[in-house]
Amino acid sequence: MSDETAKGTPVRERGEAEAVAAARRPADLVRVVMLGHVDHGKSTLLGRMLYETGNLPEGKLEQIRAVSQRRGLELEWAFALDALQAERNQGITIDAAHVWMRVGGRQYAFIDAPGHEEFIRNMVSGASSADAALLLIDATEGVSEQSHSHAYLLRLLGVGRVAVVVNKMDAVAWSRDVYERIRDEFTGYLHGLGFETVEVVPISARGGDGVRAASERMPWYEGPSVLEVIERFEPRRPPAHAPLRFPLQDVYKFDERRLLAGRVESGVLRVGDELVFSPWNKTGFVKSIERWNAPDRPYAVAGESVAITLEQQIFVERGQIASHVDDAPVETDVFDAQVFWLRPEPLRPGQEYTLRLTTQQVPCRIVRIREVIDVATLERRQASEIGRHQVAEVTIRTRHPIAVDDYSELPATGRFVLVHEGINAGGGVIQVGNYPDLRPQLSGLKSTHIYRTHGRVSREERFERVGYHGRVIWFTGLSGAGKSTVSIALERRLFDLGYMTYRLDGDNVRHGLSADLGFSAEDRREHIRRVGEVAKLFCDAGVIVLVALISPYAEDRERVRRTLREGEFIEVYTACPLEVCEERDVKGLYAAAREGRIRGFTGIDAPYEPPTDPEITIHTDREPVEHCVERILDHIRALDAAARR
Ligand code: ADX
Repeated sequence: MSDETAKGTPVRERGEAEAVAAARRPADLVRVVMLGHVDHGKSTLLGRMLYETGNLPEGKLEQIRAVSQRRGLELEWAFALDALQAERNQGITIDAAHVWMRVGGRQYAFIDAPGHEEFIRNMVSGASSADAALLLIDATEGVSEQSHSHAYLLRLLGVGRVAVVVNKMDAVAWSRDVYERIRDEFTGYLHGLGFETVEVVPISARGGDGVRAASERMPWYEGPSVLEVIERFEPRRPPAHAPLRFPLQDVYKFDERRLLAGRVESGVLRVGDELVFSPWNKTGFVKSIERWNAPDRPYAVAGESVAITLEQQIFVERGQIASHVDDAPVETDVFDAQVFWLRPEPLRPGQEYTLRLTTQQVPCRIVRIREVIDVATLERRQASEIGRHQVAEVTIRTRHPIAVDDYSELPATGRFVLVHEGINAGGGVIQVGNYPDLRPQLSGLKSTHIYRTHGRVSREERFERVGYHGRVIWFTGLSGAGKSTVSIALERRLFDLGYMTYRLDGDNVRHGLSADLGFSAEDRREHIRRVGEVAKLFCDAGVIVLVALISPYAEDRERVRRTLREGEFIEVYTACPLEVCEERDVKGLYAAAREGRIRGFTGIDAPYEPPTDPEITIHTDREPVEHCVERILDHIRALDAAARR
């Protein structure tokens, strides 16, 4: 603890400082990923290590010996792993991917990566971010293509420490030549990648030579044994002092309360902090931090999974990344990345894949391959696609903006997986910097140094006074579908019942507020944004706002929804077949559009995207107006009744 914290800082602060310090201290667990081909002796080495470190339970050795003999084999160390599978209660746990053991007073988790794909899946998803790696090479085979690509990926994923184990030295008659050739070739390659110190340890896992101590069969080797190398591995520090990143895993609703659950990937989260949720840019203050089965603390540090509640109920969902307002991730829909590809069919520009980054998921395309890198020679060349096990520098465009960080600064929010047909098909790391941050544009803020003020009349007080909440009833549908008709009837009905109402109708607003806008996709987007903002203000004032806009793009409507609280935005899909609308043609516009006198007319030569999950759908071709009105009214009443409870 620093002097400053020791001197009279409040208890709460001191606890936090300690937790942060603890998060930075080397933990008592080191994660080591084991890489190498199945036949190169990974299991044998692990089994032997368990034995050499005294981690094999009493009697186990005899059992392995017996099993080996029964199968007509020499002592088969790999059986140690099988044998331990059933021994979870012995304090040594083994699951499919991990072998735990104590070495030199510290706990180690060895992550067995049976193949390329598993390794990458684990590494990229962050499920098992390794502190160090042991790369196995078979002395009889030498450095393989896979050794290169493993090493390359370790570098790419930022695993800073690797040690190389040259196994099966017995099979090459303990040849110093063979060892030195492999060592020189591979360390040259590893240095080329930027790894600094690399130990290359010759061993025979089966005989135990070089595993715990130097082997007399290789007197020419003067370096450390495998276990000695492992003892020097240090855990990577969780980035508690980095900017806060808290990707939302789930949002749980309990009556009015919402619990936002996730894992603090970096930084510190505190009660009272103002958070911004990217990429939607909603903000809120942390009211509480909730934990399961853990003591209450008003802060959470990197590595912790917690849930938070906010002072105000804002609409956020899984995939959003919370950060502090002044240290937020970059928001973008285009970035450069280094990707690697695992599938037999190549990764092709133009084809759509799903990009997964923390809990965000978005369709994406490779828009440009700058260079493909040959992992064996590190040569770079131009290519039109990326083959299996290749690495490439690319530019990626996502369908919607997402929140990202530069991988070299914040790995957890800077790496992603590419999913193709439901399979993790590749992955990559992001280099931001070449493209602008869309945040100012997305949050719509051109000005800086502006601060919100808070009035002294609360939403609850308004509710108390009139008995209902302000809401936005958003009618969307084709021209002539009946949006205006139904909204006019609904307004009359609501007003007669004592509600304050106001109508924002596209045709009307376009004479004033949106008089400078036409019908291009961009203009419609801006039109809908403006009407949405006005509707939100009326809604805050406690008015039932009836909006009637074609609003043909789902994304534009969703953007409005996101500015409002849950339940405040009621999307009414005014469904009516195009033929019926055209038949009605109240304003003669369909005829004009068919004749080409109007361009970009919705339904004719401009698209309409129906809502996928509207609160209410009305079918104006077969449902009387009064019926539609009553259904919407019921919906509003039910929401207010729930709010009263
Ligand atoms: S929106 O697409 O931007 O939401 P809005 O509802 O405001 O449209 O306006 C639609 C009305 O504008 C239509 O009912 C129609 O009267 C008129 N209009 C004129 N040109 C077009 C067009 N190209 N597409 C759709 N509506 C048009």
